[in-house]
Amino acid sequence: LATWFVALTLAYLIGGLPSGFLIAKAVTGEDVRASGSGSTGATNVVRKAGLAAGLATYILDVSKGMLVLWLAVRWFGLSASTAQGAVGLAAILGHMFPVYLGFRGGKGVATGVGVFLMLSPWATLLSLGVWVVAFALTRTVSLGSLLGVVALPFGIWSCDGWWAGRPPAVWLPTLVWSVVIGLVIVARHRENLQRLYRGTELTFGETRLRST
Ligand code: G3P
Repeated sequence: LATWFVALTLAYLIGGLPSGFLIAKAVTGEDVRASGSGSTGATNVVRKAGLAAGLATYILDVSKGMLVLWLAVRWFGLSASTAQGAVGLAAILGHMFPVYLGFRGGKGVATGVGVFLMLSPWATLLSLGVWVVAFALTRTVSLGSLLGVVALPFGIWSCDGWWAGRPPAVWLPTLVWSVVIGLVIVARHRENLQRLYRGTELTFGETRLRST
């Protein structure tokens, strides 16, 4: 139980490391959360501090997810994907609600990509493919993220189950975690969903929220 507590706490603390906030602060001197969507994620860092800063944020945020899963296995010996998913969720919650920034952080997509690259790499690449297509067609990051999140459980089933022919005991826990974490990420995109519905969602690099 103590191992669990330490693993989840460490995952939360690493997940919360405020990469986007610090990068945007270093480039512009300002708080990225005061503009655009108010998120500390790569998309909003692009709006505030440019493409290179956003890309650096994305890479660091993906790395946080991967690092946490790596530590879960190497340090804490958590071999079951059920346990690994819980650690991944803790990292994603850390990214969304970081203790270092008054619990106001990002939306969990990049960190989630890192977590699932470790749990089911092919399915995650498939999801990223869905993201790329949606983004290429609409220039809207949030829509790509949401569709990628929806695609992930299907990707896990088709890559690890149907294609690789592994027994459900191997991939089902990962699939269940992808649904649970997916729901958390979708909930965190509530404002994006409202803007998408109203047709006012920010396209890539667009900085100003429209009021109608
Ligand atoms: O990864 C977050 C993305 O889906 C939306 O970001 O800043 O447009 O709310 P943002």
